[in-house]
Amino acid sequence: MPRFIVFSVMILLMLALIPPVVAARTRATVSEKRPIHIIQDMDIQAKFEAQTLNPLFADQRSMRPEVVGTVAQGETLLDTHLENGVVDGAWATTMPTAIELDREFIQRGQGRYNIYCAPCHGWNGMGDGPINVRATDLMDYADGPPHGTSWTQARNLHDPGWSEQPIGQIYNTITNGKNSMAGYGSQVSLKDRWAIAVYVKALQRSQNATVQDVPTDKRGNLGQ
Ligand code: HEC
Repeated sequence: MPRFIVFSVMILLMLALIPPVVAARTRATVSEKRPIHIIQDMDIQAKFEAQTLNPLFADQRSMRPEVVGTVAQGETLLDTHLENGVVDGAWATTMPTAIELDREFIQRGQGRYNIYCAPCHGWNGMGDGPINVRATDLMDYADGPPHGTSWTQARNLHDPGWSEQPIGQIYNTITNGKNSMAGYGSQVSLKDRWAIAVYVKALQRSQNATVQDVPTDKRGNLGQ
């Protein structure tokens, strides 16, 4: 076989190794450049990214502020009782009329409370939920809490001063939070927040219940 054929085959074989090596290297390194997309997908599109310059506007901001006088559709907050738990400037002590209060609603509140609140406040509202137990354990070092961490115990909802809170105030705490407790307005729907508030009131009432609160036919041998 002529030598030039042998050499050509060897050179071709070596050249054939280059693409896989380049591919392997590209996969292993980070690049600022976008990958080559043969079939374009939606992350490549003509748009201005957040916090970038947009020469179309005089102030060159790509993120546009709201036009003065804009009114959000479907969000007219006219019912302060329903939206804020406030009636005539004071915390509401009743349920908003827009909400139908029945057994199912309170049970819905119990379910939501057990998901969103019980981890800290405990299933009975005493402020001794599993997160509190765990955090207290972590704080319990002989030489003080690790890394200067602090822990605020979730409020015992039966504490005097809190057990009598109007339902509107509880609804407001759930919506906007209070001191070191975060609000749930963005995660829990308005209706569910009222359901939780009503369940908290039921929990609070349960701590001071008397036999008289139980319907006569359900008292069994508890006496009259
Ligand atoms: C991550 C833990 C945590 C979760 C979850 C949590 N809370 Fe709290 N909550 C706290 C802490 C801590 C406080 C005490 C805040 C303070 O005074 O610094 C508190 C305070 C409160 C208070 C008293 C507010 C006041 O007026 O002083 C109420 C009522 C309350 N929580 C209800 C709820 C309800 C209802 C939920 C469920 C939607 C909930 N919390 C979820 C930690 C939590």
